[in-house]
Amino acid sequence: MKIIEVNNYQEMSQKAAEYIIDKVCHFPRITLGLATGGTPIGTYKNIIEDHKKNGTSYQNVTTFNLDEYIGLSPENKNSYRYFMNEQLFNHIDINKKNTHVPHGNVEDYQKECTRFEELISKHGGIDLQILGIGSNGHIGFNEPGTSFTSTTHIVNLAPSTIKANARYFNRLEDVPTKAITMGISTIMKSKEIILLVSGENKSEALSKLLSAGVQESFPASVLKNHPYVTIIADKAAVAGLKVHCK
Ligand code: F6R
Repeated sequence: MKIIEVNNYQEMSQKAAEYIIDKVCHFPRITLGLATGGTPIGTYKNIIEDHKKNGTSYQNVTTFNLDEYIGLSPENKNSYRYFMNEQLFNHIDINKKNTHVPHGNVEDYQKECTRFEELISKHGGIDLQILGIGSNGHIGFNEPGTSFTSTTHIVNLAPSTIKANARYFNRLEDVPTKAITMGISTIMKSKEIILLVSGENKSEALSKLLSAGVQESFPASVLKNHPYVTIIADKAAVAGLKVHCK
């Protein structure tokens, strides 16, 4: 695992965007794995700016998102499909047909999990997966205790995750309690992974990731078993580490 330390959120976002843009330029048919949440928003902003300024094209890029809330339609402002359209897809030249987010309002969620997993395989897997991390160590919505062999599946969100994500909803009661997420094994099959970590509230998680052994009680620890992971972390996130190491 390689760690790149940057000064702040802006630098993290710029570095991550530059990396992704470079990959897209070299491999225009790349398959990207994308995340939602607060962490990647700056990265997406930089990608949009570059697209407008330099014309980097996403016409032949395919994307798969990590997760989606169960019960929210694509039109719902809190759905991850809506988030991705607003934060990225509507502002670049990607073909929406090539952007895949699990469907959050279908009749048979189990069937949707199988469809999504098979679709990723059919596309030859994910070339570059972008991840954020939950303060409890979740990646995607794989909460502590998730099997490392899991594929795309339905999850009950941890109370801490519901609380953390309530900032986007009017009321805590409005936050869905279930979601569909790529599994740990789906994520681990990605050829390359970039983990973005920013802010003091993530420093404990980062410290645990680096110091703890690989264990299902801390999902992100599985990344240590992946041959090609780069962590881009800002000073605030890394601060805890330094204290830890003294
Ligand atoms: C989002 C996702 C989650 C987030 C994590 C951190 O698609 O899969 O694992 O990356 O919850 O969220 P933020 O970035 O909001 O702190």
